[in-house]
Amino acid sequence: MALIGVFDSGVGGLSILDEGLRQLPEHDYIYLADSINAPYGEKSSQWIATRSLELCNYLADQGCEAIVVACNTATAEAIQRIRLELKDIPIIGVEPGIKPASMQSVKGIVGVLATEATLKSDKFNALLATLPSQCQFIKQSGAGLVPLIEAGQADGEQALELLAKHLEPIQDAGADTLVLGCTHYPFLRRAIRKLLGDSITLIDTSDAVVRQLKRQLELQDKLIANDRHGDVTFISSKDGVSLATMARELMHSDLNLHDIYARALD
Ligand code: DGL
Repeated sequence: MALIGVFDSGVGGLSILDEGLRQLPEHDYIYLADSINAPYGEKSSQWIATRSLELCNYLADQGCEAIVVACNTATAEAIQRIRLELKDIPIIGVEPGIKPASMQSVKGIVGVLATEATLKSDKFNALLATLPSQCQFIKQSGAGLVPLIEAGQADGEQALELLAKHLEPIQDAGADTLVLGCTHYPFLRRAIRKLLGDSITLIDTSDAVVRQLKRQLELQDKLIANDRHGDVTFISSKDGVSLATMARELMHSDLNLHDIYARALD
């Protein structure tokens, strides 16, 4: 059994925690949301890197034995520095699933919805350069979506309107596959389906990320299967109790099976 840290700018990483609790419910988790500073996607690379490193150091100080950087933006801007500084802890990152998308797209036309910072990052563009040139990627920043999701309005009219605007170029290009390149966006699934219908394939990497976490825990001999349901502590730079309330609303996992704690970042 291990204590696992999951970090995001806000509630987006709850989509990863949800999958973590589904595949690895016996472990203890700290979910850390930097809600006071969300969204990260429109901040400078330097700021994102420094803050992400600071918060991962905090999780390491809390005793986390593995850390999931459950944020595409923080992964793109900071994962190398985090891995360099926290050498003894496995650090698992999240990247837009453009590779699986290129393999699944029948037409070879893929939409990528991610933050401005992720789309501009060297890490994302280096990954893009490794993919076959016959696949066309329509990159679109989801500016303005994260604050609406943070405000609990993922299914609201405003989110639907903004999303319709962002998805237009992807739709016009005839994409048959859409990469959800920000961990907040799985919470827009209903709205996306409303706008694009059921035939478009949505790519979300949370399952792959948790499988990677599982492999890392196995390497450390910390993968001991039992019937336990671990504790989940929600920590927010804004308000831990509201974060836990949002988690109950957004996640599919039954949090009543776990002991839940909530507090503000000290
Ligand atoms: N959830 C994050 C991501 O995966 C960041 C969103 C933001 O804060 O802009 O990119």
